[in-house]
Amino acid sequence: MTKRFAVILAAGQGTRMKSKLYKVLHPVLGRPMVQHVLEQVNASEIDQVVTVVGHGAEKVKEYIGDGSEFVLQSEQLGTGHAVIQAEALLKDKDGITIVVCGDTPLIKKETYQALFEHHEKSGATATILTAVAPNPTGYGRVIRNEQQEVERIVEHKDANEQELKVNEINTGTYCFDNRALFEALQEVSNDNAQGEYYLPDVIEILKNKEMKVSAYQTPDFDETLGVNDRVALSQAERIMKRRINEGHMRNGVTIIDPDNTYIQPDVVIEQDVVIHPGSVIKGQSVIKENAVIGPHTEITNCTVGEDTVIKQSVATDSYIGQRVNIGPYAHIRPEASIGNEVKIGNFVEIKKTKIDKNSKVSHLSYIGDAEVGSNVNVGCGTITVNYDGKNKYLTKIEDDAFIGCNSNLIAPVTVGKGSYVAAGSTITKDIPDDALSVARARQTNKEGYASKLKNRLKD
Ligand code: UD1
Ligand code: CA
Repeated sequence: MTKRFAVILAAGQGTRMKSKLYKVLHPVLGRPMVQHVLEQVNASEIDQVVTVVGHGAEKVKEYIGDGSEFVLQSEQLGTGHAVIQAEALLKDKDGITIVVCGDTPLIKKETYQALFEHHEKSGATATILTAVAPNPTGYGRVIRNEQQEVERIVEHKDANEQELKVNEINTGTYCFDNRALFEALQEVSNDNAQGEYYLPDVIEILKNKEMKVSAYQTPDFDETLGVNDRVALSQAERIMKRRINEGHMRNGVTIIDPDNTYIQPDVVIEQDVVIHPGSVIKGQSVIKENAVIGPHTEITNCTVGEDTVIKQSVATDSYIGQRVNIGPYAHIRPEASIGNEVKIGNFVEIKKTKIDKNSKVSHLSYIGDAEVGSNVNVGCGTITVNYDGKNKYLTKIEDDAFIGCNSNLIAPVTVGKGSYVAAGSTITKDIPDDALSVARARQTNKEGYASKLKNRLKD
């Protein structure tokens, strides 16, 4: 098979973003734009990927990691100049090179694949991926001759009135015969409105050499959006969100308000899950069948079991079992493991804690660095006092224990199986199984004392 190479352009400063963050690292649904690009391009079985980096080079390399080789464009003199930086790695190779901008995060792998196929079938030296834009402002225009053959691309800033009316745009993605690309790049000049070496000029150069230049027009302009500023970034976010949400809905997930539901690309959601408005599901989360998420819930890197309900809550880096009930207003912090049929109620914070089946922490509690058995009832306002300012200590609450309201469990401490802690206790010592522990001042009632006190306070 013909070899395939990819050059990803990611060195530009992104001036129009007005940001300290390097443009291609701006996230779309939580993932840097350039990562979306690489992932989709790579699906076309690319033999060698070269990313051109410049501004923020180290950061970009960090994100992309082993996914690509890198070349440095230390001065950003234009997209043509950027591709030339890959010369040393690619120039003498036979094959097809796809060039893609790092700021077009929405192009799908199917579209890249279709571009390759079109290019291979037509036998062209270069094939441009084009689209018809409702508003082509800012994009390079595809100029065709009377036979409708592609002649050249003209940048918006260099276009005359007639050319500005063309609404077929250059998406910034192309397939080239690799050798022809690098030869033509030698002839690109910077004699234009921006004083840059434009990659699109290669098209006219090849055409003048009597080589075949073709275009593959994708029907969906939305996919080809180039993100140059924050307005386009928000459009990209909206398009990506809609695409992901529609995918889930087609797979049998109910999303009540898809415009107000944000699901990152790696999230797995099983059938008959219902997602209410204002929910954000991130990272490597897995939501199992029949779970109900939201409204207004943020879940990051969690597994949520079958039939579990989570309302108005935040859960991060945790495991949540089946038929669990969480919220409203609960905070599940990292390394929690919540067993089946557990209830975590309002204003409860759980951190680095394992809770076994059928236990309840229903109101206003902090349970951190703890192991809670099954069928435990943790009363309202219970606190695990886990931190002495320096170290964290473990609290163990064994099966069937009952913790009365407003108790402090000063760790390290164990509440034995089936034991009771009286409400308002501050527990500092281990409690054996089957005991009642009372650790609070005894109450005294001074009868008739209230009116005496009031009389004294009168004068
Ligand atoms: C470019 C195309 C335009 C096309 C549009 C599609 C050129 C001259 N114009 O315009 O025809 O319609 O994309 O979105 O190519 N970059 C470098 N080094 C540089 C300059 C740019 O690596 O010296 C990278 C940028 O990081 C970016 C990509 O190339 O990822 C495109 O550059 P950008 O400045 O955004 O080009 P546009 O003006 O959008
Ligand atoms: Ca751009």
